[in-house]
Amino acid sequence: MHYPERVSIFEVGPRDGLQNESQPLSVAQKVQLIESLQDIGCQRIEAGSFVSPKWVPQMADSAKVFTQIKRQTGVVYSALTPNLRGLEDAIAVGVDEVAVFAGASEAFSQKNINCSIAESIERFKPVLALAQHHSLPVRGYVSTVLGCPYQGEVDIHQVKSLTETLLTLGCYEVSLGDTIGVGTPKATAELLSLLTKDIPVDRLAVHFHNTYGQALANILIALQHGVTTIDSAIAGLGGCPYAKGASGNVATEDVVYMCENMGIDTGIDLAAAVDVSKEICTILKKPVQSNVSQAL
Ligand code: HMG
Ligand code: MG
Repeated sequence: MHYPERVSIFEVGPRDGLQNESQPLSVAQKVQLIESLQDIGCQRIEAGSFVSPKWVPQMADSAKVFTQIKRQTGVVYSALTPNLRGLEDAIAVGVDEVAVFAGASEAFSQKNINCSIAESIERFKPVLALAQHHSLPVRGYVSTVLGCPYQGEVDIHQVKSLTETLLTLGCYEVSLGDTIGVGTPKATAELLSLLTKDIPVDRLAVHFHNTYGQALANILIALQHGVTTIDSAIAGLGGCPYAKGASGNVATEDVVYMCENMGIDTGIDLAAAVDVSKEICTILKKPVQSNVSQAL
């Protein structure tokens, strides 16, 4: 089996992780987490979210977080921007990259961003246009690619056409989100086989939540399909407030352990990642969840 020599880890802990934590962190604690992540070698960090504070209060202070990070050269700090308002706020604090997010299921789209899939695409068009005007790269997310908490099954052809739409609109990459972690390796293989028929694999990333313990197995399948961008969250933090039952993202340290021991470079220092994982769990007053952090 052929595996890539290196992968790019897209660290979503400060956003996907913290958006779902009931224990609020101060701006200083968030900044500390982000700076620790850059210190261990994370080169792409989703550091916040410019969404409505009524919808996700945990991300209400993202602008302050962005202005306080001591940024490292070469590190890309990104944020979610669901609409023009979010993008304008993100631009004002010098975000390096933004992301729009669509759901592959109608029900999830309504619950998460209060509009249909088609309406969300219309809403993203001016966001992409303004981002392009500012030469800001835009990432796309497609959520619920392997199952929806509200409608159950999701048609993978719908995932494909939505992914193609986001790429055509100008997203440089689309991250495929198994938002509630229900996907199995077989389903992941079917999805990626379909998508990579027409979509260059270097335009795809994978974003697995580990609710049913399938994330690493699914990532292995993704690597076998040639995917080289993997989203993960330090300590396996995460979840979506609008996806009932969604638990954490796959833990960064678990992905790093698997990759490095398979000879796949991640650029991340495993021992240091475990330290950061333990620190953030202490701050959040929760037990260390990731297998690797427990083992080491
Ligand atoms: P809406 O209520 O339909 O929109 O929300 P609205 O335009 O009527 O705005 C409502 C209020 O929010 C107004 O304030 C706006 O000003 C304000 P009011 O007049 O009532 O005082 N508002 C904003 N404030 C700050 N920043 C903004 C902004 N926009 C409006 N950008 C909206 C629509 C999209 C805004 C809302 O539904 C929302 O914010 N949703 C975000 C939900 C979210 O963040 N979910 C989690 C992230 S997605 C995820 O986790 C999945 C992912 O990880 C991948 C995966 O796992 O699959 C990415
Ligand atoms: Mg997510």
